[in-house]
Amino acid sequence: MAITTCIFDAYGTLFDVAAAAREAASEPGRETFAAHWPQVAEHWRLKQLQYSWLRAVTGAHTDFWEVTQNGLDWALEASGLSGDAALRERLLQLYWELSAYPEVPAMLAALKSKDFNTAILSNGSPAMLDGAVQSAGVGDVLDDVLSVESVGIFKPARAVYDLVGDRFGCAADEVLFVSSNGWDAAAASGYGFTTAWVNRAGDPVDRLPWTPQHILSDLTTIPNLAGA
Ligand code: LAC
Repeated sequence: MAITTCIFDAYGTLFDVAAAAREAASEPGRETFAAHWPQVAEHWRLKQLQYSWLRAVTGAHTDFWEVTQNGLDWALEASGLSGDAALRERLLQLYWELSAYPEVPAMLAALKSKDFNTAILSNGSPAMLDGAVQSAGVGDVLDDVLSVESVGIFKPARAVYDLVGDRFGCAADEVLFVSSNGWDAAAASGYGFTTAWVNRAGDPVDRLPWTPQHILSDLTTIPNLAGA
């Protein structure tokens, strides 16, 4: 089937999750953090995702804002920065204003100009996603922002991927699903979507029962891939 609907993961895919730590590290008075920020950013993301999976498999759902704070608290303690309450507050504030990767606005506009359905499908809570979409200025080129909060479980539960067909009335094989998370792209392939893994870091492919159909270094070729 031809692709009619392009669905994007949010954090790490459209929005640069390392931007919060990178930006805080560049601010005056943050010399100690500047020496630690790459490790804090990596731990923060890793723990945020691990907590989301653990909460999904144990049926202990909470929203992504909570696991984002829990992940940050672990990361700051691991780098000996737990005592810096102002740094914690600043990092959390910046997480609501993440920048989009530079190619995102033109890529989404190209899809909309060809009448594809476009949406975010994310673990993020509706309020967090609204903040990121507003600060990136991409609200006009997205038909919808779908949050896992409407089903109360994180990715890669199948109930999350079901939200796409429920919203757009399309079959799974009409969907191009795009994620920078190898595990998310793999699970979405298993669900039946055509998938593109945006592998900016050149990471190895995840060893899972499914693999992404396409592996890209950024988002610029998405309109071509969708058949625009
Ligand atoms: C999301 C996370 C997984 O946006 O990146 O759903």
